[in-house]
Amino acid sequence: MAKLSTHFLDLPVANPLMNASGVWCSVASQLEALAESTSGAMVTKSCTLQPRDGNPEPRYRVLADAGQLFGSINSMGLPNEGFAYYLHYAQRHDHEAKPLFMSLSGLTLDDNLTMIDSLKDAVTPTILEVNLSCPNVPGKSQIGYDFEAMDTLLAEVSSGYQRPFGVKLPPYFDMAHFDEAAEILNRYPLVAFITCINSVGNALMIDLDSETTLIKPKDGFGGLGGDYVLPTALANVNAFYRRCPDKAIIGCGGVKSGREAFLHILSGATLVQLGTALYEEGPGIFPRVLDELAAIMDDKGYQTIAEFHGKLKTIA
Ligand code: SIN
Repeated sequence: MAKLSTHFLDLPVANPLMNASGVWCSVASQLEALAESTSGAMVTKSCTLQPRDGNPEPRYRVLADAGQLFGSINSMGLPNEGFAYYLHYAQRHDHEAKPLFMSLSGLTLDDNLTMIDSLKDAVTPTILEVNLSCPNVPGKSQIGYDFEAMDTLLAEVSSGYQRPFGVKLPPYFDMAHFDEAAEILNRYPLVAFITCINSVGNALMIDLDSETTLIKPKDGFGGLGGDYVLPTALANVNAFYRRCPDKAIIGCGGVKSGREAFLHILSGATLVQLGTALYEEGPGIFPRVLDELAAIMDDKGYQTIAEFHGKLKTIA
């Protein structure tokens, strides 16, 4: 029988699945449901220094046909309860039972540094992830697409935090951008992990009948998730896995069954996040996807995750 336990940054993890930040993790009741679920790890909603209402509704739409889920579009705009709320949750979380990541998405570099200082002082085993890729705050561009700003932020966070941390990146679509982003990330040994990918930003979904955008903020432009993004997510996971051999990769994008979880791990992901599918199905999705992943491993004769992690073959 396949063994799903693994390690992330030397931490034992029961299995490689977790939520994607933003899904089922905005308030304590959702976080508690994740803590009680069979996920191997969990992450909080990306937070800002102060609480935010986010963008006007409708701001999230699932895309499904005949009961078949195939994607989502969102422009949430970072609605969250504020840094202090998630820090308070982190301080009472049982980190030995399940690793907890805290995702920060400050609206300015100073806000990020203020939050990072408090997190450092709080001395919790929470794992820090800095989100460089929210596409949905009107007037703010994604730091992950501004390599100079990304370099500055990584330098400041490294010297302020002085502990290992991770970054959540937007998808890249050009080999030169993979190279440049990886080169910057590799300058910072404290960047211990990279989460690939955030939603594919600024997509436009239109209802044919009403000839209207599906969501309200930003004239209908929003981040795409689900089936549409799986190949882009796998490419980014594999691109950074190849280029950043000293860093762990967390895969996110298009996972709704054991098949996609397997493909993310094969491409180099150590942990795999569920976003759109978790949003629709709730935390009961974890045992289903874990069973499917174990069944694929059994069929292929793999007994451990390590036997296929990052072992993607290419055609000679
Ligand atoms: C949002 O709140 O708009 C989503 C956050 C993200 O994509 O990073």
